[in-house]
Amino acid sequence: MLLSLAPMEGLTGHVFRRVHAACFGALDRCYTPFLAPPHVGSNFGKRALCEVDPEGNRGLNVVPQLLTKNADEFVWAAKLLAEMGYREVNLNLGCPSGTVVAKGRGSGFLRNLDELDAFLEKVCAASPIPVSVKTRIGLQSDEEYDEILAMYCRHPLAELIVHPRVQKDFYRGVPRQDQYGKTLRAAPFPVAYNGDVFGCNDVGALSAAYPETRHVMLGRGVLANPALARLLRGGSAATRDELVRFHDRLFEAYLAEMGGNAVFRMKEYWFYLKFAFTDPLWVQRAVRKVRTVEDYRAAARKIFSGGELAKEARFSG
Ligand SMILES: Cc1cc2nc3c(=O)[nH]c(=O)nc-3n(C[C@H](O)[C@H](O)[C@H](O)COP(=O)(O)O)c2cc1C
Repeated sequence: MLLSLAPMEGLTGHVFRRVHAACFGALDRCYTPFLAPPHVGSNFGKRALCEVDPEGNRGLNVVPQLLTKNADEFVWAAKLLAEMGYREVNLNLGCPSGTVVAKGRGSGFLRNLDELDAFLEKVCAASPIPVSVKTRIGLQSDEEYDEILAMYCRHPLAELIVHPRVQKDFYRGVPRQDQYGKTLRAAPFPVAYNGDVFGCNDVGALSAAYPETRHVMLGRGVLANPALARLLRGGSAATRDELVRFHDRLFEAYLAEMGGNAVFRMKEYWFYLKFAFTDPLWVQRAVRKVRTVEDYRAAARKIFSGGELAKEARFSG
C-alpha cells in the first residue's frame, strides 16, 4: 500500500519532510502544504520557492499542492513546476478555513460546481503534468457529494484523494468512509483515502472494509507518531533515542531557517508530538510558556528525560 504524508500548512513543509525522512525513512510520497500560484508571467514567491526547490526535496517524491480558483494561474504554475522536474500537481479542494472558503477557494470551490467543472476542463487539458485533487465531500452536508463526484468523474484526474468530511466539520466528527467506498466504485481514476488513520488498527479496518485501498494519506497520525508509516509496514515503534534525535534535528533545522521563531514552530508541533507520551497534558504544560531558545531547549530536555513514552503514540483530537 502506498503511504503518503499529508499537506499540512506550518507543519509538513520542506524542513519537516527532510528531517522526518532522514530519521524515519521517506514516505512513498509527500504533498507540499498549499501554495498560491504566482500571477501569469511571474515566478513563485520566496516562501513557495523554498517549498518546491528541487534541492531541498532531493530524494523525496514530492507533489506540490496549489490553492486557487484561477485556471490560468494554475496552468502557469504547473508549467513552472514541470520545468523544475515535478511530475504531478495537486489542487486543494479541501481547505475549510473561513477566509479561504469566503474567496471561493479550497472547499469553498465546491459551492460553484459549474465553475469548478470548467476549471478542471481547462487545467486538465492545458497542464503539462497530470493534475490530482484532494477534496472534501461538500460544505454543509454529505448529500452534496454525489453531484461533486459525478463532476470529478468527467475529468482525467491523475488521482482523487478523499477526505470524507464536509467543510463545516473542520476536523471534528468521524470521517464518512462509505463516501470513500462510493468513490472507489465510481471513479475511472485512482483514489486515495485520507482521514483519522492514526494506528495499525485504523488501516486494518479500512482495508477490511475496502480491500481495493491502494493509497492512504497520513497527517496528524505521523505528527503524533513519526514512526507510524514504519509501524504500518510491520516495523517497530519509535524509541526514545530516535525521538530525541528527530526532535533535535528538527529544531536545529527550523532554527537555521527562521531563527528564534523556531520555538513557536516547535510549540505548534508539540500539539501533536505530545501524544508520543503517556501524559500529553504534562508535556503541553512543559512547553506552553516557553519563549526563548534557551528555555525551549530546557523544556525539551525535561520532556525527553522525564516523560514516559506511550505504548502506542496515537493522535487524539
Ligand atoms: C494545521 C493543519 C494544516 C493543514 N494544511 C493543509 C494544506 O495545506 N493542504 C491540504 O490539502 N490539507 C491541509 N490540511 C488537512 C490535512 O492534509 C488532512 O487532510 C487532515 O489533517 C486529515 O487527515 P489526518 O486525519 O490524517 O490528519 C491541514 C490540516 C491541519 C490540521
